[in-house]
Amino acid sequence: METVEELKQQLRNLQDQLKQQEKLASLGLLTAGIVHEIRNPLNFVINFSKLSDTLLNDLGDDLDDNLDKLPADDADDISDIMADLRENLGKIREHGERATSIIQNILQYSRGKEGERIPSDINAIVHEYTWLGYHAMRANYNGFNVTITEQYAEALPPIAVVPQDISRALLNVVNNAFYAVWERLQAEGDSYHPEVAISTIAANGELSIVISDNGIGMTPEVKEKIYQNFFTTKPLGQGTGLGMSITRNIINQHNGRIEFDSVEHSGTCFTLIIPILKK
Ligand SMILES: Nc1ncnc2c1ncn2[C@@H]1O[C@H](COP(=O)(O)OP(=O)(O)OP(=O)(O)O)[C@@H](O)[C@H]1O
Ligand SMILES: [Mg+2]
Repeated sequence: METVEELKQQLRNLQDQLKQQEKLASLGLLTAGIVHEIRNPLNFVINFSKLSDTLLNDLGDDLDDNLDKLPADDADDISDIMADLRENLGKIREHGERATSIIQNILQYSRGKEGERIPSDINAIVHEYTWLGYHAMRANYNGFNVTITEQYAEALPPIAVVPQDISRALLNVVNNAFYAVWERLQAEGDSYHPEVAISTIAANGELSIVISDNGIGMTPEVKEKIYQNFFTTKPLGQGTGLGMSITRNIINQHNGRIEFDSVEHSGTCFTLIIPILKK
């Protein structure tokens, strides 16, 4: 029989959890809003780089028409500079388009109706959220760096998942991996090389998403408590301790399972396994 005090504590935990869920829901909306707002200025960047390229071509034509009036050295200099400018504009456009496609995908993942399964390119989601997590770590932890290796199952068909949920699960596991290497880097310094390896493997009608790190690893106590709500080893304000329980719920909802293996001071490997359903 649980005591009144225990029940009260459970109630408080549930209330906290509810608050967290509300925060996450509004974060989703906020993300979609930001993505939407960023698309317009990005389009300007891309369009002006295209326009400048056209102008540069016109300039080249004018130069060709007047080559005889310029000293040969100057004409060469001008052509070199124009070639560099053309290359730079190409890069601005290429990276602008890359940014557009990234935010487009994020918008797509965060827009699905609650619980709706959509045939999704899991490899693309894994790739995008890996790098999203990486950049978030770089922005928040001065001196953070890690070697990321990625290996994706070839010719993977779209898999029916709730993309915004799978993204959340992934982001948590990836962030945990990054944090684990960051912790080990703090402890061991420059002789240590942080590594995180990401892969997807399709076999026997299942997809395994493998996230492995050579970070701090887990003690037996941490291994036991990892799925408990509010269990965290992170300093106050850095982790809520809800990540893994949310991740497990999400994977369960996809009729999947999570396996992990961890060695203290050496690293951790998480495998999220979901059935490959076409719809
Ligand atoms: N890859 C990992 N390496 C080492 N420890 C890990 C790893 N992943 C999880 N853990 C341990 O499990 C704990 C719980 O993880 P969980 O994701 O549930 O919460 P959190 O990351 O602390 O906070 P958040 O709610 O922000 O995700 C972590 O605090 C950490 O101690
Ligand atoms: Mg976490």
